[in-house]
Amino acid sequence: MNIRPTKGLTFDDVLLVPRRSAIASRQDVEVATRFTASIQLQTPVLSANMDTVTESRMAIAMARAGGIGILHRFMTIEQQAREVKTVKRAQGFIIEHPYNVKADTTVERARALMDQYKVGALMVMDENGKLIGLVSQRDLMLAPSTLGSVREAMTPRAKLITAAPGVSVAQARELLYKHRIEKLPVLDSHDKLIGLITSRDLIKLDQYPRITTDVKGRLRVGAAIGVTSNEVERAAALLEAGADALILDIAHGHADHCIDMIQRLKRGFPEAQIIAGNVASRAGARDLADAGADAVKVGIGPGSICTTRIVTGFGVPQLTAIMDSLAGVREAGRDIPLIADGGIRTAGDMVKALAAGAESVMIGSLFAGCEEAPGSPVLRDGKKVKVVRGMASLGATMNRRISESGAGESAEDQEDWSKVVPEGVEAVVPYRGNVSEILHQMVGGLRSGLSYGGAHNIRELQEKAEFIEITPAGIRESGSHDVNRT
Ligand code: XMP
Repeated sequence: MNIRPTKGLTFDDVLLVPRRSAIASRQDVEVATRFTASIQLQTPVLSANMDTVTESRMAIAMARAGGIGILHRFMTIEQQAREVKTVKRAQGFIIEHPYNVKADTTVERARALMDQYKVGALMVMDENGKLIGLVSQRDLMLAPSTLGSVREAMTPRAKLITAAPGVSVAQARELLYKHRIEKLPVLDSHDKLIGLITSRDLIKLDQYPRITTDVKGRLRVGAAIGVTSNEVERAAALLEAGADALILDIAHGHADHCIDMIQRLKRGFPEAQIIAGNVASRAGARDLADAGADAVKVGIGPGSICTTRIVTGFGVPQLTAIMDSLAGVREAGRDIPLIADGGIRTAGDMVKALAAGAESVMIGSLFAGCEEAPGSPVLRDGKKVKVVRGMASLGATMNRRISESGAGESAEDQEDWSKVVPEGVEAVVPYRGNVSEILHQMVGGLRSGLSYGGAHNIRELQEKAEFIEITPAGIRESGSHDVNRT
């Protein structure tokens, strides 16, 4: 047994000391960051893989705002893969497998298909997957009822403007504009259809300047998995569906089974980005980094709905956990980012977490009240609220067991529930509107924070950061005080 000579510190224990700054405007700083060793984000924020926080709707909103959502894993493999696909299909630069018909399809059927798929055009293909034309809603709008098939209504291949597979966003934009068209089929040298670029998708890209996209212009998304052996099957299905990163979601990540799983995933899916956690110590981060993780997630018990520290006595105050974990990753000789997970309530907390060495933060409860989080708001005492629950809370654990085993009905099962030892709670949080608004405030706070720190970017903030420990009087002074808030 030993007691560390230094105290463990968390966000409220410290402030950052302001530094001389050459930054004239908050717009002169850069908040882009690394999510994993090879994936960048324009906004250093992740939404947590909790069933009251991130499903596809939240993940779409997070990616559009420049962050990324991590889909929770408390659903079947098929459901989770479907959620990944929903995010990947929300928008894209090149639509793969655009809807298509054969030339002898009737006009009526083509109209019905466009309605059903909610698309403005169908590709017309021959038996060998070669494009022979394109038929749009406009082509069919005034088509006489005597027209027999799509062949007679379509714009034939010879008259179509098309692009080659390597076309860039700028080139596609120019072609669409120059020819005043809305669809640009992408063909290989044998006229085989590779995909479709639409003006609508390019306009969407402009709408979200910070957007997190993959090389195909699709939104990026992460997905959580567990460590049991059937989770390798889940990993394969999620990657096949297009997940950009897998997050090993384990309460105590500094464990042999977590390390084994990282190695297994890295062997089985060498291209996949694997995030591992959670840890809160130098040795924990070092061992996950050594095992091949592409990012390490830090946080044992700082979360708003966590009771791990109360139930087990284990945990490390989050700021110290981040600093120690950074030392661990460096000890492993790996240049991979840390994700600070849990306990972030304000932009200031985020700035401190980043200054301490994290490159992004994961947020649960603060986002659970958002419109995009699963579940509807309810009225409590006349105020709109939404539910949030720890994934190790009694309710979440019961739900999980029921869905995994179909249990829950009999008296025996009831008895079983009493044996659950929860490490989290269920609660309500105020309804907070759209997540993009919260992110806007947080990024604004971060930009300001960088300028107080005399830093042009997060890396510089970390290099220059000087923390000062404060007293309870300092904490009191930090909030608004001695006024009646309206
Ligand atoms: P915040 O503070 O943002 O924290 O709500 C979210 C993080 O909390 C963790 N989490 C839990 N930790 N028991 C725990 O000890 C739980 O039941 C639980 N559920 C979530 C998780 O790391 C999440 O990202």
